Amino acid sequence: MTIQKSEEKAVKPFLKWAGGKTQLLAEFEHRFPRELKDHRLSNFVEPFIGGGAVFFAINKKYGFETAYICDSNEELVIAYRVVKAKVDALIDVLRVLETTFFETTAEERSLLYYKIRENYNNNKEKTDFLHYHSTWVQRTAELIFLNRTCFNGLFRVNSQGWFNVPFGSYKNPRILDEQTLKEASESLQNTEISLGDFTTCERFVDSNTFVYLDPPYRPLNRTSKFTGYSKGGFSDSDQVRLAEFFKTLDHQGAKVMLSNSDPKNEDPDDSFFDTLYAGYPIDRVPAKRAINSNGDRRGEISELIITNYPTNYSTSG
Ligand SMILES: C[S@@+](CC[C@H](N)C(=O)[O-])C[C@H]1O[C@@H](n2cnc3c(N)ncnc32)[C@H](O)[C@@H]1O
Repeated sequence: MTIQKSEEKAVKPFLKWAGGKTQLLAEFEHRFPRELKDHRLSNFVEPFIGGGAVFFAINKKYGFETAYICDSNEELVIAYRVVKAKVDALIDVLRVLETTFFETTAEERSLLYYKIRENYNNNKEKTDFLHYHSTWVQRTAELIFLNRTCFNGLFRVNSQGWFNVPFGSYKNPRILDEQTLKEASESLQNTEISLGDFTTCERFVDSNTFVYLDPPYRPLNRTSKFTGYSKGGFSDSDQVRLAEFFKTLDHQGAKVMLSNSDPKNEDPDDSFFDTLYAGYPIDRVPAKRAINSNGDRRGEISELIITNYPTNYSTSG
């Protein structure tokens, strides 16, 4: 196997996503498996892709031959498919949206935003998320437009699955970032994208695979749980299912890394993950939580990094 381009620069995510891991990339980099750095892993699997901060940072950098990404959020999955296969058409639609936005007076921009949001929500019912349709391009452009212009730049839906984030009043939002979209598209060319539960990725995993798992956070304060990614939430029993999945992948010989919020931030006696992943290396690293269920809980917290391989080997050389 020849793997080139190890000095390839990281590609940026094309969406801002709650729980995005850009700020933790340096901590992750120290804890990637030795085999990844030695270019002995040719396949990458990320079953909770979200905004894909880790995927975009490492897919080209480590020259994976194949990659598989998955998410249970159907809007996100069609966006990845459009960026992969129809990036030029997407750029054309975004250019029109951007021009319209900047030609609209500052006072009327919020009206434009709510019109596009309404259109986006009204078209949801009619959208076939499983089979490609040309309307996916417009829908993805609207998603990116909303993501760039909404409050806090995040994706959040209500219990009916409707996008419900208010207008963000940014003076100069970057609606079309052509270079990022083109680089993301290029990066996705070796990648299969699927919609569904994380377990659907199991068939893509073998002993040449690096798997990164970044499930929805276990809410710090269980009474105010953040379930905004999609209609369903991610419960403690899903966390238990995920720990079983982690062990299955471990037995298949894959290298697996998982991150999650540390419940000890809230309750020092909460050993939920320490118990679930007993026997595996667990590191705690400092993180800033930017978007969470509760605005007053921003600030420094610790994040868990759990691996099925040792992370304390020397990284020099
Ligand atoms: C913490 S986010 C991932 C963030 C990502 N690492 C990033 O840097 O942007 C978790 C993702 O898991 C997805 N998700 C929730 N439940 C899922 C499930 N059962 N199977 C697969 N994906 C799921 C959510 O839609 C969300 O995009």
